Amino acid sequence: MNNKATAVAPSNIAFIKYWGRKKDPKLRLPENGSISMNLSNLLTTTTVEFSKTFKTDTIMFNGKKESLVENRVLEHIDRIRELAGINTRVKIVTENNFPTGTGLSSSASGFAALTVAGAKAAGLKLSEKEFSILARQGSGSACRSIPDGFVEWLDGDTSETSYADSLYKPDYWDIVDVVAVTSTGKKDVPSSTGHTLAQSSIFFPVRKSKMKEKISLCKKYLKEKKFQKLGELIEAEALELHAIYLTSTPSLIYLLPETLRVMQFVKKWRSDGLPVYFTLNTGQDIHVICEKKNAKKVAELLTKIDGVQKTIINYPSKGVRLVENHLF
Ligand code: PMV
Repeated sequence: MNNKATAVAPSNIAFIKYWGRKKDPKLRLPENGSISMNLSNLLTTTTVEFSKTFKTDTIMFNGKKESLVENRVLEHIDRIRELAGINTRVKIVTENNFPTGTGLSSSASGFAALTVAGAKAAGLKLSEKEFSILARQGSGSACRSIPDGFVEWLDGDTSETSYADSLYKPDYWDIVDVVAVTSTGKKDVPSSTGHTLAQSSIFFPVRKSKMKEKISLCKKYLKEKKFQKLGELIEAEALELHAIYLTSTPSLIYLLPETLRVMQFVKKWRSDGLPVYFTLNTGQDIHVICEKKNAKKVAELLTKIDGVQKTIINYPSKGVRLVENHLF
């Protein structure tokens, strides 16, 4: 058995978001389905090796050794060990090419890469659906970084029915996500904790009652390639998510002055005739969605905003894949 494997996985941006979990939080079954696009330039690369020669487990993340106490990566490796029926120690080396813990969904790319490299190194042979189910248990949004392109995480009530599927391949539509990095400071409350607070917002029941309709609308606009309609929908969805954050107990405030400045500029550019929309997740870094023909201009405009440290242009991308070059 070749017990070493490396995978590269993209992060993804949710057009319609996963926020809040139902029932068993350990299985990470979401309150609603969600729709996302995989991002070509926000990537995690992970090498996993199981070996009888290792005395302990080790995890290196961006060049630093990680503590193993209450470590979610190790919990995920335990899931993989259990499935493979092994108890061999592991060495994991993982690297992100973008900021971690700032709202760019590094846990999505991270757990997708870990799942595929880990399963391969453990000798498991899984289908795409099984990879997605397994990745979901590490971090919900990771299940959407498994399939290619534009992806739907199906609203299943059980572990077997809660997985992601590709709606369209990456070359289906030239939509671009220009990420504006406003600060590399890590957020105080990670989304894994934030999910448990969703129910405390008085607005959450209203949100829940509208989710099925939102998913159908998003699918309709994707199918018909209606950029303006899609943009309006995803921007409103991001603002709704932040309304839930702000009104949870305790409240979750992720927006920085720089983030708000970008939001205001995007609205201004739009009123000046540039079709551009923002979306954001649990953090201060912001995604600006436009068509490919406007991507360069949007990146240039963003760079000029006070507080924007850098921009990263992302095209729709394929999902996770195994690669030959190991990190160790
Ligand atoms: O998968 P998690 O626990 O990192 O949660 C993701 C939550 C959002 O990014 C806010 C929304 C989403 O669907 O990606």
